[in-house]
Amino acid sequence: MKTITLEAIKTNQKVISFLEAANEYLGIIGYTEHGFRHADTVAHLSKNILTHLGYKDPLPELAAIAGYLHDIGNVVNRQDHVSASALISMDIFSELKVPVEDTAMVMSAIGNHEEPEGEPVNPISAALILADKADVHRSRVRNPQMIGFDIHDRVNYAVERSSLQVNARKKIISLELSIDTSISQVMEYFEIFLTRMMLCKKAAAFLKTDFNLYINKTKLL
Ligand SMILES: [Fe+2]
Ligand SMILES: [Fe+2]
Repeated sequence: MKTITLEAIKTNQKVISFLEAANEYLGIIGYTEHGFRHADTVAHLSKNILTHLGYKDPLPELAAIAGYLHDIGNVVNRQDHVSASALISMDIFSELKVPVEDTAMVMSAIGNHEEPEGEPVNPISAALILADKADVHRSRVRNPQMIGFDIHDRVNYAVERSSLQVNARKKIISLELSIDTSISQVMEYFEIFLTRMMLCKKAAAFLKTDFNLYINKTKLL
């Protein structure tokens, strides 16, 4: 049995179709972008976190795969997408003959990526939480006319730049955001993202690092 690669997942027809359908379904019910762009961003960030912190193969590649597949379960339902994503991944992995130990690690990472139930349970899971929560950005808002009405759209739209920095030497993971405060105040960010930031703190601690949050160059966490 060989370990799976992100490339093999990205070119799998079931992955392509389900991710496309999931994103379309979320668009219909008014959610932000959760398609190939989000999958790709979270895949690369998850892998980078573990690579920078010196985790050995196959963990960084498995983190990339967990990142790519973590929201695929939205094809079933937004509410239960966490479990659905884990089970769909299991199905795809068994078709691709991925070793069961690797399947178990990725499933539990995907199954723990959302607050309030999610907890970092292994390094892949911790990396996935940090990567997913870092992807807050203007480009994810599908309907900018809604920013006056919907706080999630407004906060996402206000974020002009977001970057996740890993300092392995100092053992610090920092999320740096630039927010246009004429669109949304920093307080609004906390109003909806405080529990997410607490989960990021836990995830960083699991990786034996500290989590810092900077908004407009001011350290807030
Ligand atoms: Fe999710
Ligand atoms: Fe996500």
